[in-house]
Amino acid sequence: MRLSDLDDREELGGGGPPRVVYEPRGAHRALMLCRDTEVAAVGRAGSGKTLAACWKLHLTAMKVPGLRALMLRATHVSLTATTLVTFQRQVVAASLTDGTVRWYGGSEKDPPAFRYANGSEILVAGGDRPEKFLSAELDRIFVDEAVEITLDLFETLISRLRGQAATYQQIVLATNPSHPQHWIKQRADDGNLTMLTSTHRDNPAYVNLDGTYTDAGHAYMEKLDALTGVRRQRLRDGRWTAAEGVIYEEWDPAVHMVDRFEPPAEWPRIWGVDFGYTNPFTVQWWAVDPDGRLWLYRELYWTRRTVDQHARDILRQVTDGGGKWIEPKPTAVVCDHDAEGRAVLERELGLTTVPARKQVGEGIQAVQARMRQAGDGRPRLFLMRDTLVERDPQLVEARKPLCLADEIPGYVWDKDRDGKVKEQPSKEDDHGCDTMRYVIAHVDLVAKTKVSSPAGRAAGRSGSAAGRYGRPLGGVTAGRSRR
Ligand SMILES: Nc1ncnc2c1ncn2[C@@H]1O[C@H](COP(=O)(O)OP(=O)(O)OP(=O)(O)O)[C@@H](O)[C@H]1O
Ligand SMILES: [Mg+2]
Repeated sequence: MRLSDLDDREELGGGGPPRVVYEPRGAHRALMLCRDTEVAAVGRAGSGKTLAACWKLHLTAMKVPGLRALMLRATHVSLTATTLVTFQRQVVAASLTDGTVRWYGGSEKDPPAFRYANGSEILVAGGDRPEKFLSAELDRIFVDEAVEITLDLFETLISRLRGQAATYQQIVLATNPSHPQHWIKQRADDGNLTMLTSTHRDNPAYVNLDGTYTDAGHAYMEKLDALTGVRRQRLRDGRWTAAEGVIYEEWDPAVHMVDRFEPPAEWPRIWGVDFGYTNPFTVQWWAVDPDGRLWLYRELYWTRRTVDQHARDILRQVTDGGGKWIEPKPTAVVCDHDAEGRAVLERELGLTTVPARKQVGEGIQAVQARMRQAGDGRPRLFLMRDTLVERDPQLVEARKPLCLADEIPGYVWDKDRDGKVKEQPSKEDDHGCDTMRYVIAHVDLVAKTKVSSPAGRAAGRSGSAAGRYGRPLGGVTAGRSRR
């Protein structure tokens, strides 16, 4: 991996970035001074947790020669897209320029790392590539967005805290709050982990010393104020809370989320599509294994693009530059009921589509049934990690869900004005959940009516198990619009 993959700004090579003065306040000051083995910086979105933990790591590496440290997020991709960028731009930029720190891009067996002139080293790895750090003997570990890692991985990491440098050993977690039963919260409640809770007052970029917001703070709070439901309670208010009236109570990331792998070519594929412009346009690529389990392996979740633009992005994923398919064609493209959207998609993809079965109650029950663990202890639905084709920067900025997995914990039953629960889901942040429901209804609910495409091509299908997946769509050359 090259650092320029993270940051192509010219000044890194030349004129030099501005020197940054870091001022730790409140909970972050406490974090700097804390020597406990397990400590978590927890708090509202944007309160400065990541930056504080990054600075602690860097300052320690500068001060303690020969320090061996690890910076980690649940997946390598998420780490490089977020935490590593903060570390590089806002913490070590000047040291990279003056040569005190060098970037090592990694090898077959060694993870990439920041190497310090005094012999210290900060390894950089994703929890999905444990072989890269399992043999390391570490003095310090920093896990960003730690609610995303399992207790198992956390315990493995603790077992690696065996470094020899002249300092105390510590694992620092940084995270927004999650549900109250989360292992991080439980560990803190049991007294095994020190939790330091930050607020926006701890971030000088957003709040002045007199408690008034800076301009950037005003703008950031506006975004948090626009959030609803459980995301608002966790990100804006910093509460460990579960959504009320959660629809998929069976959902457990530790069970349903798995590391990415390439589904074997013989597994049939089914695509789900939910149209949107202001709201995200969602495409989900599912593969069906020989036991009928469904695996989400790719996801498009993107706002403010037209359907024909999306169609080009979709084709880019499944065909080579010449329009040849590089993965199996789907046996069905299950779409939300938007006649115009479907017509454009069919024309641009060269694939027929089928309208989704939209019976909400039955669809939700079908999803719930798949999420439940079957006799073999496994559910019948899995989401791979890092399925996103691209992170939508507008959604990142608005702190909205970026993908299906982000939506599920906040997908709740709607309530009427008196607070009585209705038998329909709330329409907030439901785009990925709708798409998943369409796909599962298509596979699991027995067809009651024959369905047809807007172009008038019959796409009828059998409701029997044998005919569930059908043959890959074909006969039409993929894609009329190429780059
Ligand atoms: N002490 C500080 N001085 C100057 N800027 C800061 C400070 N702390 C945080 N910031 C800035 O505030 C923004 C948010 O900080 P950071 O990303 O560390 O927050 P966070 O709590 O990790 O957010 P999230 O909940 O989104 O992970 C960043 O742009 C960061 O540079
Ligand atoms: Mg952060």
